[in-house]
Amino acid sequence: MASYSQGLLFAILACACVLSTLAARDLADDRSIVARHEQWMAKYGRVYSGIAEKAQRLEVFKANVAFIESVNAGTDKFWLEANQFADITDDEFRATHTGYKAPVGGNKGRKTGFRYANVSLDALPTSMDWRTKGAVTPIKDQGQCGCCWAFSTVASMEGIVKLSTGKLISLSEQELVDCDVDGMDQGCEGGLMDNAFEFIINNGGLTTEGNYPYTGTDGSCNSNKESNAAASIKGYEDVPANDEASLQKAVAAQPVSVAVDGGDNLFRFYKGGVLSGDCGTELDHGIAVVGYGVASDGTKYWVMKNSWGTSWGENGFIRMERDVADEQGLCGLAMQPSYPTA
Ligand SMILES: *[C@@H]1O[C@H](CO)[C@@H](O)[C@H](O)[C@H]1NC(C)=O
Repeated sequence: MASYSQGLLFAILACACVLSTLAARDLADDRSIVARHEQWMAKYGRVYSGIAEKAQRLEVFKANVAFIESVNAGTDKFWLEANQFADITDDEFRATHTGYKAPVGGNKGRKTGFRYANVSLDALPTSMDWRTKGAVTPIKDQGQCGCCWAFSTVASMEGIVKLSTGKLISLSEQELVDCDVDGMDQGCEGGLMDNAFEFIINNGGLTTEGNYPYTGTDGSCNSNKESNAAASIKGYEDVPANDEASLQKAVAAQPVSVAVDGGDNLFRFYKGGVLSGDCGTELDHGIAVVGYGVASDGTKYWVMKNSWGTSWGENGFIRMERDVADEQGLCGLAMQPSYPTA
């Protein structure tokens, strides 16, 4: 009897002991996430308005870090990072760092030619990297302005201008933000690459980044700068939708603008490797395909140029799995690709 109660007592104490250990660990976790948030704030120069905002941002940071760590603990071929976007919510992120307005009904209402239709897939190189061919300018940063569409447009235009003239010229996103405002394109409030190509054609070209530098805010159109075009395009074409083989034909020939679900947390927090898995297809972000290749383990990928600065992803670029089972492509990348023609 005595030994039974002693056993019971022991059990209760052991249990209490475990509970208090758990509580201590929670507290330590809390302290460590607070410390990590502080370090993160220092790294990214984040300043909050006061204690209330800091507490609220800490909660968002905590949830984002939990997501990032759960993905990194898995066996994926890519990894995520608590980057500069780690203290904002999904909605805040989509509103301020993307900006692609998907056309109603997709690109299907309009028929453009597809000049690479008859290219033989067998004749394509197994890899292509327009960066090494001098057709890609350094990574840019759209900041807190939803004008990804302007950066995507300019990236593929810089490519075709280099291929047709031999000159790599950094072109002006701000001109599109300020001057391409009479249609769907609305500066930091979003836009569409095809509409921007149309604006550039009608406008007789685009001026340089240096002449009309990026400010990250909506401004009024400077017509003196606007009239000083440095490069032009003749037209633009849509790649057949939901067809990665056609996309490869186009990318083998020139950089191509694409829309993706950039608000998906896998994309938002991407740090390195070949992104794959369960990414959404809610198209909200314009980027540019600047190459493709095959990783050492045989995984096929696209090389994409983003506009979130060089600390994001692989020095500002992302590799995304190519030829996935879903015909829309990873994160919807095959849904609405297009390119300018010279
Ligand atoms: C592709 O080939 C078909 C059949 O020969 C031809 O009708 C079509 O014009 C070609 N398309 C292009 C873009 O060259």
